[in-house]
Amino acid sequence: MARTRITTQVAIMGAGPAGLMLSHLLAKQGIESVVVEIRSRQAIEETVRAGILEHGTVNLLVDSGVSDRVLREGDRHDGIELRFNGESHRIDFKELVGESVWLYPQTDVFMDLAARREADGGDIRYGVTDTSVHELEGRPKLWFTDAEGQEFEVEADFLVGADGSRSHCRRQIPEAARTQYFHEYPFAWFGILAEAPRSADELIYANSEHGFALISQRTETVQRMYFQCDPAEDVADWDDERIWAEFRKRVNGNGFELKEGPVLEKVVLPFRSFVHAPMRHGKLFLAGDAAHTVPPTGAKGLNLAINDVRLLAEGFESFYGSRSSVLLDSYSDRTLERVWKAQHFSYWMTSMLHTLPGADDFSRARQLGELRSVVSSRHGQAYLAEAYTGWPGR
Ligand code: DHB
Repeated sequence: MARTRITTQVAIMGAGPAGLMLSHLLAKQGIESVVVEIRSRQAIEETVRAGILEHGTVNLLVDSGVSDRVLREGDRHDGIELRFNGESHRIDFKELVGESVWLYPQTDVFMDLAARREADGGDIRYGVTDTSVHELEGRPKLWFTDAEGQEFEVEADFLVGADGSRSHCRRQIPEAARTQYFHEYPFAWFGILAEAPRSADELIYANSEHGFALISQRTETVQRMYFQCDPAEDVADWDDERIWAEFRKRVNGNGFELKEGPVLEKVVLPFRSFVHAPMRHGKLFLAGDAAHTVPPTGAKGLNLAINDVRLLAEGFESFYGSRSSVLLDSYSDRTLERVWKAQHFSYWMTSMLHTLPGADDFSRARQLGELRSVVSSRHGQAYLAEAYTGWPGR
């Protein structure tokens, strides 16, 4: 059976937030795209991801007309709490840099984008198989088989790999044309969803001699929390009592007591820093996790992905509007600037808050010195606040 040919302007592999947001921004400029995704829409909706949106991400969702649900159902957070050595220190974002973040899960961002693309008649194919990309340096093609078993070839002016950290698109770039930067960390996060009331109004990032813990939230009745663990940890070895005992050791004390409840979900999240440069090869552009991964501390992943596609959409707009390739040509350099700032911030937050396996007295005391140098200085606090809420500009 012959492949059915579809012709479009931009073929996008991956219907996560990066792929869908790009398709949405292009549609607003009258630029056609087809988005192809191997997961089902339901599978993406059921994956629990991080929950913090920078103000710039929120503005783009609202101003570009995706949805204002984030403003109605998300929670604006004007600060976070840093805990160490039995002390609590609030970093007041609003007062320090005039900005806030929103607690609004990535899953909801996906649902808003998917609903908007559907309402606008966007061509999004979920649950496809046998995807492959061809002729990246000529007129690119994206092959796939749809859920009914029909084979397609999407021929496009450009191809965008927004296909996540295990990107197929990225792997098609020749070795000689790329540099890959990796950093491994000797720990992971044990993440839970628990049925319990909120323990605090804002997020708590806790450094303790027993390791790091993060107290985050989801709704009035469901909370999200993490504790630093060994990457080889098996969730099956952790019953509710053992999990709560670990959290208590790390965050309870000085009048604070975590509100506990049944654990609904548990997962071990690996830590990795990764950057692929450049983020372009011929007619292929990479966006989001396909090109970079940050450790979760500071929740930069989704925010970077959204910033990538904002710049990429501007590049395509200028290409189709005034036949200028300047913005597309500088896309990789411009987006990597923010990616490396976020790599540094995530690495810094991670190293400042986590306990290195085998840490000696010097390393622990030095770490407290570092935390004090942040919380005791307006400049230190403002550095954290600016990075956490999202650097101005691009
Ligand atoms: C969440 C995750 C993060 O990595 C973070 O830094 C803050 C919050 C979350 O899932 O809520």
